[in-house]
Amino acid sequence: MKKITMLINADDKISHINPEIYGHFSEHLGRCIYNGIYVGENSSIPNVKGMRKDIVEAFKDIRLPVLRWPGGCFADEYHFKDGIGKKASRKKMVNTNWGGVTEDNSFGTHEFFTFCELVGCEPYLAGNMGSGTVQELSEWIEYITLDGISPMADLRKANGREKPWKLKYLGIGNENWGCGGSMRAEYYVDEYRRYQSFCKNHSGNQLYKVACGPSGGDYGWTDTIMKNLEPCHVNAISLHHYTIPTGDWNRKGSAREFDNDIYYDTISRTLSMDDVITGHSAIMHRYDPANRIGLIVDEWGCWYDVEPDTNPGFLYQQNTMRDAIVAACNLNIFNRHSRRVVMANLAQAVNVLQALILTEGEAMVKTPTYHVFDLFKEHQNGELIYCFQSPAETGESIKIPLLSSSASVKDGVMTITLANCSLEEEADISCSLCGFHGTEASARILTEEVHACNDFDMPERVVPKAFPVSLADNMLSVTLPPCCVVSVSVR
Ligand code: AHR
Repeated sequence: MKKITMLINADDKISHINPEIYGHFSEHLGRCIYNGIYVGENSSIPNVKGMRKDIVEAFKDIRLPVLRWPGGCFADEYHFKDGIGKKASRKKMVNTNWGGVTEDNSFGTHEFFTFCELVGCEPYLAGNMGSGTVQELSEWIEYITLDGISPMADLRKANGREKPWKLKYLGIGNENWGCGGSMRAEYYVDEYRRYQSFCKNHSGNQLYKVACGPSGGDYGWTDTIMKNLEPCHVNAISLHHYTIPTGDWNRKGSAREFDNDIYYDTISRTLSMDDVITGHSAIMHRYDPANRIGLIVDEWGCWYDVEPDTNPGFLYQQNTMRDAIVAACNLNIFNRHSRRVVMANLAQAVNVLQALILTEGEAMVKTPTYHVFDLFKEHQNGELIYCFQSPAETGESIKIPLLSSSASVKDGVMTITLANCSLEEEADISCSLCGFHGTEASARILTEEVHACNDFDMPERVVPKAFPVSLADNMLSVTLPPCCVVSVSVR
C-alpha cells in the first residue's frame, strides 16, 4: 500500500474552471449522429423531434456544457445550405472521410440547434475553411444569428425558424494542417484573418472565434499563429491531441484486449497531455501574458482499432476501466491548466472513439467514461484550489504516477477527484484541509477490473457506487483500491 499525504488550502484559488472543459464533440461519422443522437421523428425509439430521449436525458444528467459539430474532417466539406429546408429535397452527398456512406443531410443546422436546446448546452460550430468560402461561412452566421430582414434571415424564417439562435463558439477551420486543406501555418493564419473579418456579430450576438491550432506537439504551428494574431482577431486556438496506446497509427491496438504493459503505456501517453499543454501555453504566454487568448483542447481521447466486424470508417470502439482512468487523468490535467485551457471536447459523444454512450437499436449503455464525467461534474464553474500527480513510480517496465488528482470549491462545497492509476497498489491517502471547515464528507467510486466495460448484455457492470471516506478535525482519510476513479465531496 502506498501512503500519500496531501495538503489542500481552499484559500489558494488558482483559477476558474470553465464548465466547457467538460465539453463534447459530435461528428457526422459512423453512428454518432445518425442511429446515435438522431433517429428521426418516425422512429419507434422514443424521441423528441427525432432526437433520442435517453441520450438527451443522459447528457442533461452530466450537465453537458457544450457540443462541437458537424466535425472534424466532415466539417471541412460541409455546406450548410445542403442541410436546411424540406428534408426530402436536401442534397445527398458522399461522406468521403468516413466510410464513403451516403449523407442525406437530414440532420442539419435546425436539428443541431434543437438538440442543443433540449440538452441545454452551448452549440459550437466548426466552420468549413477547407472546401468552403468566406461568403458561405459569413452567410451561415447570418442565417443563424440575424434578427431582422436579410437574405439569410429570410431564408431561415422560410424554413420555419422565426427568431435567430444565439451562437457563441465558432471554429474557423478544422485541422487545416491536415484534412482541412494541408495548409502551412503561414498560409492558414492569413486565410484565418480574412475569414474572421466576415464573421460578424449580428443583432447583439457575440461570437467567440476559435482558430485552428496545433496537432499534438507541433509548437511551430502555435508560434506562427500567435505571432500573427491579436486578441481582436481571435478568442482561442484549438489543440487536437489523442491517446494512441501503441503510438503507432497503423496498429493502435484493441479497446478490450491489452496486457499490463499496454495499459501502462496508454496512461503514460495520456499524461503527455500535460507536457503538450505546458509547451503550447509557454508559447502563448510569450505573446499573450494576460491570458486573453484561450487554449481549447478540441479533440482528445483514446483512439483504438475498430471493434472486429465493424466498418473501419465508423471508428466504433468499446470503452473499459482503462478509458475511465484516461478520462480522469485528462480532466485533472485540464483543471490544472484551467487558467489557459478554457474548453475541452472529448471525441466523440456517441458510438465513436472514446464515446460517452453506445447504442444498438433501442438499447443504450453509458460507458465508464460517461460515469467519470458524472463524478467530475461538480468541478464545473468551481475555483481550482489544488492539483497533484505523484511521481512516476508505479507500473512494470513502464512507470507511471499512481495518483492523479485535482480539487475545487464552489458554493461552500469542496470537490476532490482522484484516480488510482496502478493495477496493483492501493493508495492510502491522508489529506489535511486548510481554509475550509468541512463537517461531513461523502464519496463515490468507479472501480472494476481494468478490462471491464458496460455492454448491451451487462449495461451496469461499471457504475459509480457510494464509497467510505472519513473526516475528522479537517483531516480526510480515504483508501483507494487499484484502478479506480473517486470523487469526494466535503461540505
Ligand atoms: O475524431 C475523428 C477525427 O479526428 C476528426 O474528424 C478529425 O478532426 C480528427 O483527425
